[in-house]
Amino acid sequence: MPDTDHLPGSNLHRGSSNFAFTLHEQVIYETIVVLPLPSGKVHASPVGVRFTGCIESGKETFEAIVYQGAVIHDLLVHARRCIIQFPALHQVDVFVLGFKDLLPEYAGLQTKDENIGQSPVFYLPFLKSIENFFEVRVTDTIDELIDDRVSRASPDNDSATKIMMETVAAHVRNPHLPPFCRYPGLFVEFLVAASRAKMLDPRTSSWNALLVELHSMAENLKKIAPLDERNRYIDSILLKLAS
Ligand SMILES: Cc1cc2nc3c(=O)[nH]c(=O)nc-3n(C[C@H](O)[C@H](O)[C@H](O)COP(=O)(O)O)c2cc1C
Repeated sequence: MPDTDHLPGSNLHRGSSNFAFTLHEQVIYETIVVLPLPSGKVHASPVGVRFTGCIESGKETFEAIVYQGAVIHDLLVHARRCIIQFPALHQVDVFVLGFKDLLPEYAGLQTKDENIGQSPVFYLPFLKSIENFFEVRVTDTIDELIDDRVSRASPDNDSATKIMMETVAAHVRNPHLPPFCRYPGLFVEFLVAASRAKMLDPRTSSWNALLVELHSMAENLKKIAPLDERNRYIDSILLKLAS
C-alpha cells in the first residue's frame, strides 16, 4: 500500500464510509501514542484521542486527556511532538501496552528494534504493526481536573493535562482499515442490557440497578461520540423506560 500523505483537496480522512480510514468530528479514537524515552528506548502507550476538526490548511486537530503520573504524559508535555497510531479492530490487542507492569514481556516484544520504524518528517519511532499513523505537534497543554465518576479516576488521582495537537503529516498506508473507536461495541452492550428491561419488574432493585447501568453507559457513549446519530436511540429508550 502506498503511503498516502495529505493531498490537496483529499478527503481521505474525512469521508463518511464506515469501511475506510475516516475520522468523524468530536469522536474519541483509541490510539497508541509513541515517543522515545531519554534513554533512546521506544515508549508506546494507549491514549484516547478526540478528533476536533481541521484547521484552514486542512490539517487535523486532536485533543487528548492524559493523566499526570503516566510516563507518556511527561514525554508528551516535554517533546511537544509525537506519533499517533490508529489500530483497527483486529489490532486491539496492542492496547495491552497499557499494562507494561503486568505484562512486561508483551510490551517488550512490541517495541523490539525490528518492530519499530522511523517516521519520515520528525524521525520519531512508530510500531510497524499499525499501518495508519500521524505525525503531530503539540500546540497547547492545559492542566485539568477530571470527572472521577466518568473516568473512574480516584479523588487522589484526578489531575490530568489536556493536550492539543495538530497534524504535520498523515500516513494512511491502509485506507481500508477504520480507526478503532469504542462506540459501536458499547452501543451494542447498551442495547443488550436495555433489552433485559422488559423481563424485570419496575418495583425491584434489579430494575433500578439496570437503569443506573444504562445511564452510565449512555453517559460514556455520549462522551465518546457526542454527535453520533445513534445517540437518539439511547435517549428514546431511556425516556420510554422512565415513563
Ligand atoms: C484503550 C486504552 C485507552 C487509554 N486512554 C487513556 C487516555 O486517554 N488517557 C490516559 O491518561 N490514559 C489512558 N489509558 C491508560 C494508559 O495507557 C495507561 O495509564 C498506561 O499505563 C500509561 O503508561 P505509561 O505510564 O507507561 O505511559 C488508556 C488505556 C487503554 C488500555
